[in-house]
Amino acid sequence: MKLILLGAPGSGKGTQAAYITDKYDLPHISTGDLFRENIKNKTPLGIKVKEIMDTGNLCPDDLTVELVKDRLNNPDCKNGYLLDGFPRDIPQAIALDEFAAPDVVIEIDVDLNKIEHRITGRRSCPKCGGSFHVDFIGNVDKCPTCGDKLIIRKDDNPETVKERLEVYQNQTAPLIEYYGKQGKLVKVNGDQPIEKVFEEVVKVLG
Ligand code: AP5
Ligand code: MG
Repeated sequence: MKLILLGAPGSGKGTQAAYITDKYDLPHISTGDLFRENIKNKTPLGIKVKEIMDTGNLCPDDLTVELVKDRLNNPDCKNGYLLDGFPRDIPQAIALDEFAAPDVVIEIDVDLNKIEHRITGRRSCPKCGGSFHVDFIGNVDKCPTCGDKLIIRKDDNPETVKERLEVYQNQTAPLIEYYGKQGKLVKVNGDQPIEKVFEEVVKVLG
């Protein structure tokens, strides 16, 4: 199964991805996580994209497409993949259609007015990729899943969230129509408890 999770920043892509990869045994490929890893390791790619990510803009399409192409060549992707945060604009979607077109695109639909609260209260685990909210875990600094130190992402502040939402509306939201026309888009309601969202996802994936 080749699956894409599409949705605004903070819509719950990473959260649902953890449940999906567990149940369906698919590799979770988050372009945001891949870029953050490169930044952490100070690779040439990481150095190129750091400032762009910190301001909430999109990294260049050519670099992003190459990154995904490379990752999808890994043997663990031979039976399918779960893409989280890619494609992010029409040129990326066209490129993906040329080398690994998806079967299903799940759009996590959320009220954009709730995004700032979700993102500014998020705590992330760089080690296991976990994503949590202080509303649920309290103000702790240890990852509830792996025990590593939780961090606040550099782009999780109110100013950058505003920019990320604008980028989403202008560049990413057109993918809803793109995949709708291909008959691949299924919308789930992301404004309900995490487990309920996952129940809807399971209904789609079977
Ligand atoms: P990326 O890492 O992809 O960030 P994003 O799309 O902004 O999405 P987030 O990771 O912020 O949110 P999410 O949907 O995963 O939500 P989560 O599950 O964590 O990208 C970051 C940057 O990298 C981009 O700005 C860009 O610069 C670059 N980049 C990445 N991909 C790129 C690409 N393809 N092309 C170019 N540049 C690219 O949940 C959020 C919070 O809400 C958590 O606290 C969680 O606990 C909570 N929550 C989740 N579900 C629920 C629920 N149902 N109810 C209540 N709370 C919930
Ligand atoms: Mg995420």
